[in-house]
Amino acid sequence: MSYRHNLQLTADKKLRHFLTIEGLPRAVLTEVLDTAESFSSVADQAVKKVPILRGKTIVNLFFENSTRTRTTFELAAKRLSADVLNLNVSVSATSKGESLLDTLSNLEAMQSDMFVVRHNKSGAAQFIAQNAPAHISVINAGDGCHAHPTQAMLDMFTIRRHFEDFYPLKVAIVGDILHSRVARSQIHALTTLGANEVRVIAPKTLIPTDIQTMGVHVFHDLKRGLEDVDVVIILRLQKERMDGAFLPSEKEYFHTYGLTQEKLAFAKPDAIVMHPGPINRGVEIESIVADGPRSLILKQVTNGIAVRMAIMSMAMGSYSAAREET
Ligand code: CP
Repeated sequence: MSYRHNLQLTADKKLRHFLTIEGLPRAVLTEVLDTAESFSSVADQAVKKVPILRGKTIVNLFFENSTRTRTTFELAAKRLSADVLNLNVSVSATSKGESLLDTLSNLEAMQSDMFVVRHNKSGAAQFIAQNAPAHISVINAGDGCHAHPTQAMLDMFTIRRHFEDFYPLKVAIVGDILHSRVARSQIHALTTLGANEVRVIAPKTLIPTDIQTMGVHVFHDLKRGLEDVDVVIILRLQKERMDGAFLPSEKEYFHTYGLTQEKLAFAKPDAIVMHPGPINRGVEIESIVADGPRSLILKQVTNGIAVRMAIMSMAMGSYSAAREET
């Protein structure tokens, strides 16, 4: 499938759908980060709500398991005062043979305004956006190995809050790059936002052969790849997407690529550690690092709420409209 990136933007370059970071201009990514910054204080209010999406109906359509993404989308929508419907796909009529498009038509008939979609097939969110009526915005909450753009934006928000600027930063993404929609979206976001250097570190079997076309440096040696980096992003082995043997064993993988305190010492002394979750302790990261002072893993989860509030309100055109009214 070819991805029509401009499907995401209106004629005046405003966000309409959020499907992939690839092809989005830096100005849009920066607007997401700035808008999220303005929403982050909502969590400190006695009543954690703003009326920006009051009267709007958002449907969470998760055809694949999720803990962090689904719940933070729900919280984000509720903090924007939207009505939220969580379709439990395992007990919905799709399990009785109803097609995806027929399910969507029924949800459209309930006057929905936005679909948040997670699916194990790459391109699913794009397909839904192409077939949805004009008034419905579609947000990709992760599609196959292709993209997880809201995860990448909450990661960028976490990095910018810590370091303020992307330009001097060297960022290493470690682990199963081959099957990772998060890595692809992070690479597009980091290069668009002007990071100094993006590295990917993994065994040869877990790196796409054409990865250099994305503007990254490839390392197979973890310690060499971590030298002088500011940000270390660890990814889990995505076994649900592996259709063969990519590694001798998890024990061997942890020995060579697992992030331990000893290996983290090769990065800059003030380097931060991130992970999109779920984490597998003792496989890609040791507990003392995951729970240690340099880990921002739980901050990433918290930041996901403000970032998703920003993306939802921008896609509905409601953030700028609300600002114009005040
Ligand atoms: N990071 C992430 O997408 O986690 P979930 O699968 O729990 O949503």
